[in-house]
Amino acid sequence: MSGKKLSGEVFYPSEEVIERAHIKDWEKLNAEASDDNEKFWEDRAEELHWFQKWDKVIDDSIKPFYKWFTNAKTNIAYNCLDVHVETYRRNKLALIWEGEKGDFQAMSYYALHRETCKFANVLRSLGVEKGDRVTIYMGRIPEIMIAMLACARVGAIHSVVYGGFSVEALHERIEDSESKVLIVQDGAYQRGKIVPLKEIADEALKRAGGIEHVVVVKRTGQDVNMEFGRDMWYHELMNLPIATKECTLEKMDAEDPLFILYTSGTTGKPKAILHTHGGYMVGTYTTLKYVFDIHDDDRFWCAADPGWITGHSYIVYGPLLTGATSFMYEGAPNYPYPNRWWSMIERYGINILYTAPTAIRGLMRFGDAWVKRHDLSSLRILGSVGEPINPEAWKWYNRVVGNEKCPIMDTWWQTETGMFMIAPMPSVPLKPGSGTKPFPGIDMDIVDEEGNSVKSGEEGFLVIKTPWPAMLRTIYKDPDRYVEQYWSKYPGMYMTGDSAKKDEDGYFWIIGRVDDVLKVSGYRLGTAEIESALVSHDAVAEAAAIGLPHDVKGNAIHAYVILRAGVQQSSELKEELKKHVGHEMGPIAKPENIDFVDSLPKTRSGKIMRRVLKAKALGQDPGNISTLDE
Ligand code: WT7
Repeated sequence: MSGKKLSGEVFYPSEEVIERAHIKDWEKLNAEASDDNEKFWEDRAEELHWFQKWDKVIDDSIKPFYKWFTNAKTNIAYNCLDVHVETYRRNKLALIWEGEKGDFQAMSYYALHRETCKFANVLRSLGVEKGDRVTIYMGRIPEIMIAMLACARVGAIHSVVYGGFSVEALHERIEDSESKVLIVQDGAYQRGKIVPLKEIADEALKRAGGIEHVVVVKRTGQDVNMEFGRDMWYHELMNLPIATKECTLEKMDAEDPLFILYTSGTTGKPKAILHTHGGYMVGTYTTLKYVFDIHDDDRFWCAADPGWITGHSYIVYGPLLTGATSFMYEGAPNYPYPNRWWSMIERYGINILYTAPTAIRGLMRFGDAWVKRHDLSSLRILGSVGEPINPEAWKWYNRVVGNEKCPIMDTWWQTETGMFMIAPMPSVPLKPGSGTKPFPGIDMDIVDEEGNSVKSGEEGFLVIKTPWPAMLRTIYKDPDRYVEQYWSKYPGMYMTGDSAKKDEDGYFWIIGRVDDVLKVSGYRLGTAEIESALVSHDAVAEAAAIGLPHDVKGNAIHAYVILRAGVQQSSELKEELKKHVGHEMGPIAKPENIDFVDSLPKTRSGKIMRRVLKAKALGQDPGNISTLDE
C-alpha cells in the first residue's frame, strides 16, 4: 500500500515500526498470496508441526463444504504446548494472569503443558473420548485455558459458553451440543461481586439432560451445591493418581472438529459454528503473527473473553501457537478504579493491547489523567475489534494510550471466519475507522442485491469470494442451515451479514449488520433470543427487540412488549421483565428500555418489521412499508 498518495486522513507508520515488522512490504506479500493462494497457505502451514502432511491444501470438490489440508494429521494443542516445551521456550511464560482482587498467576509453557496433560487424563477418566462434546462455562481464569487445551488434546470438542450468559442460554447450548461433561466455576468475580456460575449451571441442568459429570473449579469459595456422583471438584480430581503429567495425545485429522461456538444468527436459535484442528490452526497462527507482528519476546493482551471467538483465537490458540506470552485479566476494566488496565500494562510490560471500541469509549469517559499516571511505553501495537471504531475513540486510543507511536490494527472478522479477514499490518498506512484491506490472499468484495460489485464509495453487502483456512466448516448438526445462511444468496460467495463501502484506495469501511443481529458493547446478540426470553415471562404475549445507537455500547437494546390480556402495565413490571431477561439470557441481553404497546408492525406474513420500529424510535422515515399489514 505504498507509492500512491492516499485520500482522506492517513496515519503512516514510523520507520521504527516498519524496521521491526515481519512484513515490511504488504503489497508484495499480497501479490504472492493472490497469485498462488494454495502455496501461500501451504508455506505458512509448514511452520507448524504435522504428524503427517496433507495430500491437498484445499479440497473444493463439494462446495461450500471446503476442506483444508486433507488427510494431514496434527493436533492444535500439540502445536500450542508440546512443540515449545521441546525448545528454549520450555521455561518461558505462556500465560500471565491477574485476578480481579489483585491475585496473580504465571505459567510457563512447561507448567501449562503439565496442567493440560493432567486435566486431559482427568477428562479421559470421566469417559470423555474423541468427538465427545464438553461444555465449558467459566470466567476468565487460567483453568479455562487448561480446560480448552485438554479437550483439544484428547480430541473432544469444546463448547465454551460465555460466563455472562445465564440459565436458558446455557441450557440451550448444553442440550443442543449433547455435551457429556460440564466444566464450571463455583463463582466468578465481576466488579467486586460474585456471579454464581455453579448455581446458574444447576438451574440449567434441571432443564437439560445429558450431562454425566460436572467438574467444578474453586475460585470464589462460597458454599455450592455438589450433587453426589455427578459433581466433582477440579482440585480433587487433579490430585488423583490418574492425573499424571504424561498423557497420550490424540492425533487428529486436520478436518476433525476442534470446537463449536454458539453465535447469533438472523432467526431462531443460536447456531453452533464448527471449527477444525488444521485450518483454524494455520489461520489463527498466521494472522496473529503478521497483523500483531508477534515476536518471541512479546507479551500480548487480548482483553476479550475466552467465551467468544476473539478469546478462542487470540487469547488461547493464536498466542500459544506463536509462542508468545498471553496475558489474561479476570475482572472489570474500571475495578476498583479506572486505571486498572493501564496499571497492569505498566506492571507486566504488555507490548500489544487488543480490545473493542466499546471498552475504549468506556475508559475514555474517565479522562486522560487515569491513563497518564502510568508509563505505557512498553506498548508497541494496539488493536480494535467487534464493531466499527468511531474516529474520536480511534484518536484518543492513538494519542493517549498509544502516545502516537503505536499503530492501531482494526481487525474485521467473525465467529464464522475464525481469523482476521480485513486487517492492516503495522507497516500499512492507516485511516481511522477502516480495517484497511483484506488479509493477503483473501478476496472480499462489496456487492449489490444481484451480487454485482458496487462502485467505490457505494454501500453494499460484504462478501468473501475465496475459501480461507480458518473458515467455519458447517453449523454443527445443521449443514442445510450452513448452506442456506451463508452461501445461498449469491452462489459461490460467503455472505457476511454486514454492509460496507470501499473507498478509492481500496480501503474497506464497515457500516454494520444488515440482519437481525445486534452488536451491544461488542457482544453479538440476536433479536430473536431477546424476544424469546421476554415471551417466556408469563405477563408477555409478544415482544420485539431492536438496537438503538448508544454512546458507549454502540447499540443499546430497546424492547416493545405486548402484555397478555388482563395484565396491568407498570414500571415495576418493566423492571421485572428486564431482570427476567437477565436471568434467562444474561445481563448483557437486558433491554435498556421497554415500551408497552398494543400492536407491533408486521408484514402480512406475520414477520415483525423491526426496521419500522427503529425508524420510528429515531424519528426517521421508515422507507418502503408496502409489505406492512394494517
Ligand atoms: C460481527 C461479528 C470476531 C470478532 C469479534 C466479533 C462486527 C467485528 C469489526 C470491525 C466493524 C466489526 C461485524 C461482524 N465486527 N469486527 N473491526 N469493524 N465491525 O465476532 O461476535 O462473530 O461478530 O462483528 O458486524 O459481522 P462476532
